Amino acid sequence: MKKIFLAILLSLVLCPLSLAITGCGNSQGTPPVASEKISSDKKILIAYFSRTGEEYNVGYITKGNTAIIAEMIARKVDADIFEIKPAQAYPDDYHACTELAKTELESNARPALAVNISNLAQYDTIFLGYPIWWGALPRVVLTFLESDDFSGKKILPFCTHGSSGLAGTQREISAACPHAEVLKGLAIVGTTAQNDSADAENDVDVWLKASGY
Ligand SMILES: Cc1cc2nc3c(=O)[nH]c(=O)nc-3n(C[C@H](O)[C@H](O)[C@H](O)COP(=O)(O)O)c2cc1C
Repeated sequence: MKKIFLAILLSLVLCPLSLAITGCGNSQGTPPVASEKISSDKKILIAYFSRTGEEYNVGYITKGNTAIIAEMIARKVDADIFEIKPAQAYPDDYHACTELAKTELESNARPALAVNISNLAQYDTIFLGYPIWWGALPRVVLTFLESDDFSGKKILPFCTHGSSGLAGTQREISAACPHAEVLKGLAIVGTTAQNDSADAENDVDVWLKASGY
């Protein structure tokens, strides 16, 4: 009787320990693989650049048009979110900003980032958001793309714009990340993002569905 009691006591003590190491609760006796354990970890990143201040056709905004779409996507997709921020903020004044952006484009500048992303390796899919500036990617988005290794990752571009659509930005992304797979992007007019959330949401939903989300 004493032996049976001891055996029960021993198994009660040891089972939680062996569960932690090998998963003794598994009926096949095989240990859980790492991916099972971290299944709740996010594999999708939404990285976006967006500007506040005076903006084309929307007056003075306190949340950028692209930021609104980024947050909309984040409500629908289980993802982490990272804001691409320049070390030196762009001017609030629209005209001043367009002039600076033009200079940066002409000199193919790479404005410094305020914060570098430290954990890109953990993501396999990146939703990349940006406004169209002079028919192109804002140079600070290129700084971001060149700051880490996007090889083997899927990139889903989304932009907001005045009327240009995605322009040549998907090609720019492919050129900056030649070993990434750049999927079909989404373009939303800035005024729609800022003032017509139902319309914007519909565009986001259609695109996410077509992209497999
Ligand atoms: C510097 C600058 C350049 C722009 N160039 C273009 C352009 O070439 N084509 C276009 O359709 N819109 C252009 N726009 C308008 C923005 O793309 C649009 O308002 C966008 O929604 C702003 O997004 P944000 O609020 O996230 O920064 C430009 C805006 C700025 C500030």
